[in-house]
Amino acid sequence: KLPTRVKIVEVGPRDGLQNEQNVATEAKLALINRLSDSGLKHIETGAFVSAKRVPQMADSLSVFHAIKRHPNVIYSALTPNIQGFEIALAAKACEVAVFTSASEGFCQNNIHCSVNESLKRFESVLALAKLHGLPVRGYVSCVLECPFDGPTSPQNVTNLARSLLDMGCYEISLGDTIGRGTPLQVARLLDDVSKKVDPARLAVHFHNTWGQALPNIYQALLMGITTIDSSIAGLGGCPYAPGASGNVATEDVIYLCEQMGVETGVDLQKAASAGWMICDALGISPRSNVSLALRSQ
Ligand code: HMG
Ligand code: MG
Repeated sequence: KLPTRVKIVEVGPRDGLQNEQNVATEAKLALINRLSDSGLKHIETGAFVSAKRVPQMADSLSVFHAIKRHPNVIYSALTPNIQGFEIALAAKACEVAVFTSASEGFCQNNIHCSVNESLKRFESVLALAKLHGLPVRGYVSCVLECPFDGPTSPQNVTNLARSLLDMGCYEISLGDTIGRGTPLQVARLLDDVSKKVDPARLAVHFHNTWGQALPNIYQALLMGITTIDSSIAGLGGCPYAPGASGNVATEDVIYLCEQMGVETGVDLQKAASAGWMICDALGISPRSNVSLALRSQ
């Protein structure tokens, strides 16, 4: 049975733009302000990570300071460690996210430590976040397959998701980082994770590299998932996951859901025009069929 409504977590300004070169801070601000006007309630606005590793996110603090904030919108940031968390506080981020992987290979490549070490780092982030009353989201990458280690066992994901929740994360976003999964794998994964985690505490984060994100989301909706991560115009990818391309496009998720009677609270036309604006600024075409279809009407 499908849910009556879903929450979309817009990750375009972070996951989308971390993969694009030379995006002007002004363009990011215009994008985030337009997204805020579209009805989205959670916008991942930046990342406080090493500027040497991800130069595209180096202006995140300026972005946070300059956006026009809507009172009902959560503006969040990635914080892999205490150093990042402290900058997030200075940025007045509403929420932060820690991120690790169900596979060792991606964890080492992405954040330069083992999965166990990442959890140790997060303990201090979670403790400080609690002190400051900031909710913390947890990301688990490579939930179906890792570009370095191959297929992932669902039990690894289940145990890691459970640990992150027990440590204090309020929600776990399950990432198919390289976008290779198909609905049967998603069903097997969610069957296993749901044994130890309430689906209300899970989000799905599907990259669309192999074009499977929408069927995977449909499968997840049927299994009680009501939070979906997506990126405007399908921008995105992870610089440390070879071959990974953009997230599922927000416009495609809105269309899919609304056509099935699942409320998103987001205005498709406004979201699409935010996507056209950033794509024009980047000199690229939207990677969203719905956006392209709307534009040609
Ligand atoms: P490290 O590589 O272990 O090294 O850092 P370090 O701790 O020795 O620090 C290296 C340098 O970074 C030092 O500067 C630190 O000061 C600085 P230097 O002395 O060389 O000038 N540094 C920082 N600077 C700013 N903010 C910080 C910070 N921490 C250290 N928070 C670290 C570990 C995790 C920071 C690093 O490896 C890193 O930034 N990695 C990049 C991670 C990243 O942003 N990946 C992309 C996002 S994750 C993703 O896309 C997946 C997701 O979408 C879900 C999915 O799709 O699966 C979430
Ligand atoms: Mg991602």
